[in-house]
Amino acid sequence: MTTVEFFASLKDLGITIWIEDNQLRYRAPKGVMTLDIKQELVERKTEILTSLKQAKDVMGDKRLVTDVVSQKNVKSISQEEYEKPSQIELWPSLAEFFVYDDFLYYLLTNDRRRNHSYKVAINQLVKDKVVVDIGTGKDAILARFCVEANARKVYAIEMSEKYYNSAKACINKLGLSDKITLILGDATKVSLPELADVCVSEIVGSIGGVEGAALILNNARRFLKEDGVMIPARSVTKIAGVCLLDEFLQNPEFTEIPAYYTRKIFEQVGYPFDLRLCLRHFSKSSIISTSSIFEDLNFAATIEPEYSHKVNLSILKDSRLDGFIVWLNLHTIEGEVIDVLEHEYCWLPVYFPVFSPGIQVSQGDKIEAICSGSLCENNLNPDYKIEGYVIKKTGQKIEFKYYSYHYKMAFKQTLFYKNLFSNYVLNSNINSSVTTSKR
Ligand SMILES: C[S@@+](CC[C@H](N)C(=O)[O-])C[C@H]1O[C@@H](n2cnc3c(N)ncnc32)[C@H](O)[C@@H]1O
Repeated sequence: MTTVEFFASLKDLGITIWIEDNQLRYRAPKGVMTLDIKQELVERKTEILTSLKQAKDVMGDKRLVTDVVSQKNVKSISQEEYEKPSQIELWPSLAEFFVYDDFLYYLLTNDRRRNHSYKVAINQLVKDKVVVDIGTGKDAILARFCVEANARKVYAIEMSEKYYNSAKACINKLGLSDKITLILGDATKVSLPELADVCVSEIVGSIGGVEGAALILNNARRFLKEDGVMIPARSVTKIAGVCLLDEFLQNPEFTEIPAYYTRKIFEQVGYPFDLRLCLRHFSKSSIISTSSIFEDLNFAATIEPEYSHKVNLSILKDSRLDGFIVWLNLHTIEGEVIDVLEHEYCWLPVYFPVFSPGIQVSQGDKIEAICSGSLCENNLNPDYKIEGYVIKKTGQKIEFKYYSYHYKMAFKQTLFYKNLFSNYVLNSNINSSVTTSKR
């Protein structure tokens, strides 16, 4: 039973669950709360807390499936502390691995700001048109937006059989099966019965190209008529230097939920490695340099999946340089930009911990670097590199080189990752060995 199905079964029984004072609580009609249900609540505690907490934090919505109730007859399942939401959190870069689950799709489907920006583009482009939706996901959400915007027909492709089935059930339930044709398979391999006017997709990650958008969308051009258009139009990923809090850098660790996904990624790949990291609750006040473009994917034309270009940054204040923040600016259509540093979205900015320990820099110092992306062994997901110099006003040059691999078997390669995985024992069970916060 999926989390959502479990929630639904609780609701049917009249059982209400919610988070209060960082604890999972429930209220149930007399005689309904059996030992089996209690046991299941305990076993599913992490996933339930994850769903409820994220729904509350991300969407400001306290109710995932149940109403918030009064404190009368409240029972506590756990006394465990939950981390404060404003603390910076380390997350693995999720989008580039197939670790999608109900919870991650929930975040996508309910990311109102993201959806609004997609709707702005969809509403302008799809009326009376044939659309292909690449990677429609569990809720076929973008395909449904296209129908709402009066698309003539939508072909929605999904490669995960499980979530293709969920999308099918959703489309049938909504009575949209005459408008949306679902296709199970890899978008680079399937074919359509007719050419499309518009291709809509959301296979961009925290660095736009991490999920393999360049190759998948280059390939998807074959679905389009000559004057066909892409939504999103462009993905620009920016870069700037940062100074983070000592408290965070001295003891980097995953809290419970990111640790859960890190384990899932290690399990899927088959070994632990220095995975790409994202920061939740990152504050723009930590940026200490000008910004520049790290990656630029213009979906209006065929994209070169491998690139290398120069960036120049200027340090804006006397500070410590710990590394770089790299963040997505997704243009769904010209003039409509999702900047993931402006609000919290389902995408988080990526952190490159290049200087560990950090180096002292002064206002006016410069950074000259080459940013590059090249495909990893699977010929789909990129490995990234930044190398160059910090050039001080005194003339001193500090050389640096940093690799951010998709899944290379490289573990605890820098001091930052050594600290992060300090308690990780290589031969132990992947499932139980990712360090989590004790907070
Ligand atoms: C980030 S999710 C987006 C889901 C949905 N379109 C949305 O915007 O909420 C990406 C989806 O693309 C699917 N996907 C990734 N690569 C694909 C491919 N080559 N062919 C078909 N589906 C793919 C994944 O399984 C996942 O469901």
